[in-house]
Amino acid sequence: MNAPIRHHATPNEPLLSLFQRMLDEMEQKESVEWDADTGTLDASIYHDPAIYDKEMARIFKRVPLCLGHEDQLREPGSMIARDLFGLPLLLVRDRKGQIHGLLNVCRHRGARLVAGEEEVCRKGALSCPYHAWTYDLDGTLRTVPGAEAFPDLDKSQRGLRRIPVQVRHGLIWGIFDANATDIDVASFLGGIDDDLAAMELGPHRFYRQHARRRKCNWKLVMDAFQEFYHIKRLHARTIGPFFLDTKSAGEGVGPHLRVLVGREGLTEARQKRPQDWDMRRDATLTHMIFPNTVIVYHPDYTSHLGMFPTAADEILFVHTMFTPHEPQNEKEKSHWDRSFELLDGGVFGEEDLFISEQIQLGLKSGANNDFLLGRFEHHVRRFHSHIERMLKD
Ligand code: FES
Ligand SMILES: [Fe+2]
Repeated sequence: MNAPIRHHATPNEPLLSLFQRMLDEMEQKESVEWDADTGTLDASIYHDPAIYDKEMARIFKRVPLCLGHEDQLREPGSMIARDLFGLPLLLVRDRKGQIHGLLNVCRHRGARLVAGEEEVCRKGALSCPYHAWTYDLDGTLRTVPGAEAFPDLDKSQRGLRRIPVQVRHGLIWGIFDANATDIDVASFLGGIDDDLAAMELGPHRFYRQHARRRKCNWKLVMDAFQEFYHIKRLHARTIGPFFLDTKSAGEGVGPHLRVLVGREGLTEARQKRPQDWDMRRDATLTHMIFPNTVIVYHPDYTSHLGMFPTAADEILFVHTMFTPHEPQNEKEKSHWDRSFELLDGGVFGEEDLFISEQIQLGLKSGANNDFLLGRFEHHVRRFHSHIERMLKD
């Protein structure tokens, strides 16, 4: 059964007032969005292993991280194996429909239950290949062959270890700490929580995903999604022509960020009533959800990007496309396939990730002890100040 096709989510108050600010921005000669000050960033934050270790301990193992869309685990028994931040994680949907974050490690003598990394599969239960201890999809230890050999075994104490996982707005969130017991995504998101509800990501469908490792620090890629100065330059041959030069309005929401970037058709939006403003067609809404998620709302699909650090100079870049419904016909399917390829290979692969790797190559050359942030790049500075504060605490 197909979900009803809707092209126009109803924006909430904060999004409407941001849109109004962007229209006001068009009237100004001197941008009201620019920060009065310029700034600098110490270049060592992108390669110093001690800083990287602190970021893992104080940020990535503490805050809820977005791990994808629940539609990727559509059927009971579907699971994804992925090793992140030193934890071999298995995201599993159980028979009741609930999603669990289990450690992919047998509680007998530690064998991996699902062998591959990045593996997506479907199973009725989790059976260990070594001695066949078998776990239910919720991680409960169910059967132990030759149980008489373990007279003192308390099965209830030998279920799979887990991390706290919660589904909110269709997105799966988890805290990468096997000792954490609780997760509260709504309070972590703060004001962004209502934006995600307004943009109706919950009923979206998982369409395609490409995960790859690239040789750059995770923050270089995050920086690229928090300034719009480069859109008409770096992306001149791809998406640049769709946008107005540096016409944007953005605001920090706790550690997160919401930004609207004006598209070429924005001029006509001035004639429309506010209830007809379209956050996807008149402008491009982007959310940066601290620390490593970016969501970009295109006219008829959504890009979800996860920047998962694997070393000071390497990330696992996970690009996922969500669509408002299953493709209705071949034309729609080929349009989405072409869009995915343009973004994945062209815009992200050959432009944003390429330039981040180019920066990484020169980091230790001594050419720059610091980087300059101009007045268009104030969201980048805010992002780094937040990280700095978290590393100090
Ligand atoms: S290690 Fe898994 S059953 Fe022995
Ligand atoms: Fe970019």
